[in-house]
Amino acid sequence: MIGPAYSLFGRGLGDSPLSNVGADYFLVQLPEREMNKFISAFDIPDFAAFLQEAQQVKQTPFAWKTLGLNKTIGLIFMNPSLRTRLSTQKAALNLGMAPMVMNIDKDGWKLASGEGVIMNGDAAEHVKDAVAVMGQYCDIIGVRSFPLLVNREEDYAENIIGDFIRYAGVPVVSLESATRHPLQSAADLITIEQYKTTPRPKIVLTWAPHPRALPQAVPNSFAEWMCAAGADLTIAHPEGYELDPKFTDGAKIVHDQAAAFRNADFIYAKNWSSYHEYGQILCRDRAWMVDQAKMQLTNNAKFMHCLPVRRNVVVEDAVIDGPHSIVIQQAANRVVAAQVVLKRMLEAMV
Ligand code: CP
Repeated sequence: MIGPAYSLFGRGLGDSPLSNVGADYFLVQLPEREMNKFISAFDIPDFAAFLQEAQQVKQTPFAWKTLGLNKTIGLIFMNPSLRTRLSTQKAALNLGMAPMVMNIDKDGWKLASGEGVIMNGDAAEHVKDAVAVMGQYCDIIGVRSFPLLVNREEDYAENIIGDFIRYAGVPVVSLESATRHPLQSAADLITIEQYKTTPRPKIVLTWAPHPRALPQAVPNSFAEWMCAAGADLTIAHPEGYELDPKFTDGAKIVHDQAAAFRNADFIYAKNWSSYHEYGQILCRDRAWMVDQAKMQLTNNAKFMHCLPVRRNVVVEDAVIDGPHSIVIQQAANRVVAAQVVLKRMLEAMV
């Protein structure tokens, strides 16, 4: 359980070899606790303190009801969302903030990006102008922007969230970017702390089949957070699904799913498309679905998934509906994670 005796898998983020990742998005170097952005694990310099705050927020969610008084958060979606959309609004409301939500892909002007672009096509507004205007209306801005999965270099440059950080003039929260989903990973860390029964549980991130090509953001981010926390992480996937190694330094990578499941304490299932053959589906083998037989190899492992999930494709009904499934509790912790992040941003404004 999260609490004062908490030990974070025996390592702190400052010790991580990955601790410089994400630094390219700093515009203004603020003191450690003054958050002007939340886009990766490296915006949380103190995981143990973060988890203790999460415990406080869980126990007394309305204790900071006046912190966000007269403050507005804009939640800008370029892609669909259920959990991120609702949990971040709920977190903001718990802090007394007013949320404004915009589906910019449906309700906004089509945006152009890049310096010197000649806007004689169908884009009516430049992202520079749109984001700067949003910053006039909001005290914090959250943005969701998926990768196109066509050009890896472009996606991994994270230009959209980079433009928000450059032009908003207010703190920016990633609601899932091209390569990371930090609010999800923060909730995952909180959930593992909540349910772990040994100090350093065996955590397995397993690839699972899916009919569509999905981003690598969730597995990248989960691996980044777990490696940064010093967790015992095994990643199981078919050959060709290796993630960008900058996210997986410290994880054990295997291609034998059953071997990975042996003695696991947590199974985290997720599909992703290939990073190396960028955006491609290389494997449709249904044998990679998480089922009861494989779960029986584990140490009564808890089953996790970020949701939404394709039942009986990614995971068998019997597993996700079974007693070891914690997917709903994991989703509930999305509010807690978002509330800690927003609380830290608001406290930095006082
Ligand atoms: N897990 C997650 O981010 O869910 P949504 O896409 O529904 O927000």
